[in-house]
Amino acid sequence: DHITKQLDRLYNAQAPETGIIKNFIKAETEANTQLRSYANNVKQNHLDNYVYFRGLTEFSNKCSKNCYYCGIRAGNKNVDRYDVTDEDILDAVRFAHEQNYGSVVLQAGERSDKHFVERVDKLLRKIKQITNDEIGITISLGEQNYETFKRWFESGAHRYLLRIESSNKILYYKIHPKNEKHSYEHRIQALYDLKDIGYQTGTGVMIGLPFQTRKDLVEDLLFMRRFDIDMVGMGPYIEHQDTPLYKYRNQLLPQQDRFEMTLNMISLLRIIMPDINIASATALQALDPMGREKALKAGANVIMPNVTPGMYRNSYKLYENKPCTDEEAADCVSCLEMRIGLTGNQVGYGKWGDSRHYHNRR
Ligand code: 5AD
Ligand code: SF4
Ligand code: FES
Repeated sequence: DHITKQLDRLYNAQAPETGIIKNFIKAETEANTQLRSYANNVKQNHLDNYVYFRGLTEFSNKCSKNCYYCGIRAGNKNVDRYDVTDEDILDAVRFAHEQNYGSVVLQAGERSDKHFVERVDKLLRKIKQITNDEIGITISLGEQNYETFKRWFESGAHRYLLRIESSNKILYYKIHPKNEKHSYEHRIQALYDLKDIGYQTGTGVMIGLPFQTRKDLVEDLLFMRRFDIDMVGMGPYIEHQDTPLYKYRNQLLPQQDRFEMTLNMISLLRIIMPDINIASATALQALDPMGREKALKAGANVIMPNVTPGMYRNSYKLYENKPCTDEEAADCVSCLEMRIGLTGNQVGYGKWGDSRHYHNRR
């Protein structure tokens, strides 16, 4: 039928048509359903039905930046700032290793001081050591200089997540302060550096930002394809009351629309980049209790269970309604396994689950 023809055209195109993508981003129920099952098929054909776990540790909410959307921006005085101790981080990694998660993600606010750089370096080496090299390591620690990226790579990190947030430079500067510390060019350069060093390079955007148009979202997808990215994490924008963007809350699309559009973005990206890793963002679950599972049925193949020690979780609030932030919610493992089974996928226990695209492009 007509919808399937359009999807075939996207899948087979050398240069995907922006008009088709744009229509699908905010499609009606019928087209949504077809889009998502098409993307799920593309995933099954190019990859397999494994979903890979990345044990996520948000090890510090101290940040030197002031992104206008983010709840832990430096300027927010209503945050209890923490640094998980090295021992507690290593315990979280041990936990992930014992649970047979194939990988961990170390995430924190952005800092670039010498002490921080060295600390991460030591942690990475230690993780390699205590896990006998059996666990993949992704880091997500913001923009750093080439030397730092390289140093962390040599210490054992092999994947890096750095969202471009929006590939439209004008929009980028509406959601970040316009200064040296928040330079669009520098962020792009950082992505080139990561690729050059040899990282599996991940990026992503937020969906439903104030001032964002559907054309921006089309351009975001094409940016990721042009950049030939290995992994992507994208999620809905969720307003946070202690941030400058909160004043635009009445101009946003309803949360439900942001949610549906995120799923559509995931599906579209899967269709135009069949062999990359796509994460089912935690922010999806803040908008729908089954949000992450829906993404796994729409083309995503990675999920990041939080292994941050319970007492810190409540303080890593980038946005409101963040799921699993209660101390008792540590027991997400069996819960997730069941939920993933319901999506027709299985957990890729004990596998790194590297981006197939990374290996294919090299
Ligand atoms: N809503 C959704 N995502 C957010 N992030 C930061 N603040 C928000 C928000 N209010 C995302 C950014 C960042 C990632 C770690 O979290 O995209 O890259
Ligand atoms: Fe810091 Fe990242 Fe939040 Fe920006 S989005 S303020 S860099 S933690
Ligand atoms: Fe968090 Fe089940 S996934 S409690």
